[in-house]
Amino acid sequence: MPTIANSTRPETAPIAKLLSLMEGSARFARESVHRASAEFGSTWGADFSAMLGNFYPSDAALLDAVKGYAAFVMDSMRRQKRFEQELCYPAKTYAEAAAEVYYNDDYMRRQYLPGLLLSHYLWPHHYQQIEYFKSYFLPWMQAQQVTEFAEVGVGTGIYSRLALQHRSDLRGVGFDISPLSLEFTAAHVGSFGFAARYQTRQQNIIEQPSEQRFRAVLCVEVLEHLEDPVALLKGLKQLCTSDGKLFVTAALNAAHADHIFLYRQPQEVWAQVEAAGLHMEHCFFANAYAPAKPGLPVPSALAMVLSPKV
Ligand SMILES: C[S@@+](CC[C@H](N)C(=O)[O-])C[C@H]1O[C@@H](n2cnc3c(N)ncnc32)[C@H](O)[C@@H]1O
Repeated sequence: MPTIANSTRPETAPIAKLLSLMEGSARFARESVHRASAEFGSTWGADFSAMLGNFYPSDAALLDAVKGYAAFVMDSMRRQKRFEQELCYPAKTYAEAAAEVYYNDDYMRRQYLPGLLLSHYLWPHHYQQIEYFKSYFLPWMQAQQVTEFAEVGVGTGIYSRLALQHRSDLRGVGFDISPLSLEFTAAHVGSFGFAARYQTRQQNIIEQPSEQRFRAVLCVEVLEHLEDPVALLKGLKQLCTSDGKLFVTAALNAAHADHIFLYRQPQEVWAQVEAAGLHMEHCFFANAYAPAKPGLPVPSALAMVLSPKV
């Protein structure tokens, strides 16, 4: 039976190329490709191949992404080790995180954005969160014939792109404070041929609320980046129509350069959701891996489908 590494099937060829580039500069990451392939199967293979083939069509671009992913993983592991000992994130203000990360051209292009994008496919809890979005939120948007959505904190743009890919009659608006995230997202969405259905806006919706309202609002892994996540949840509620729904996620116990609000338990997020006047309809929770020792914190993903309380 052909493996991904020696497959000549067009849909897995970009993954085979990725594996061969990892051989030279990120050998440790090959295992995560094989593990994800075994766990998530052909849908994962087709999705991941399409992203790699569209967005990183040349070997040089793919090699840069591999190097970015390797640097992102090493950086995250180092921060997580420190977190396991100190059980808190290093004190950092939002302004400091923004300068260090969101407005840092070199860090965003070389490490953060490619690393985050590949992590959506190679970290099991990240891909499970995508599966949850595809099985619980996109079908609701389709059933309700939602024609326009907003995403806040687009980062790599993967969730916006997945929504645009799901239906050709859907249009979207992506908000972010970082021009680098917006540029990356526009390129990502454009590489799938969806540019005409998507707009990007450099806007902090907390300080500068949008006049436009949307029936579907997405916000993936932004809450833990803020000093006051309730302010963002209130902003998201305001962006959503009263009959709409929101797909909002949070990363728990995950030390990254720009994670400043530490969530230890899902209950802490649910209390903030409630405080912002939102109702949780459904949620998904997954750990990144089993703890090496009982009691050791592990990164986890909490994804929620919310509706505004009226
Ligand atoms: C970890 S990324 C989010 C992941 C992203 N949704 C994805 O799927 O790849 C965090 C993003 O939030 C953005 N961000 C931080 N504070 C924000 C704010 N107040 N409003 C909008 N975006 C913000 C950052 O610039 C960055 O692009």
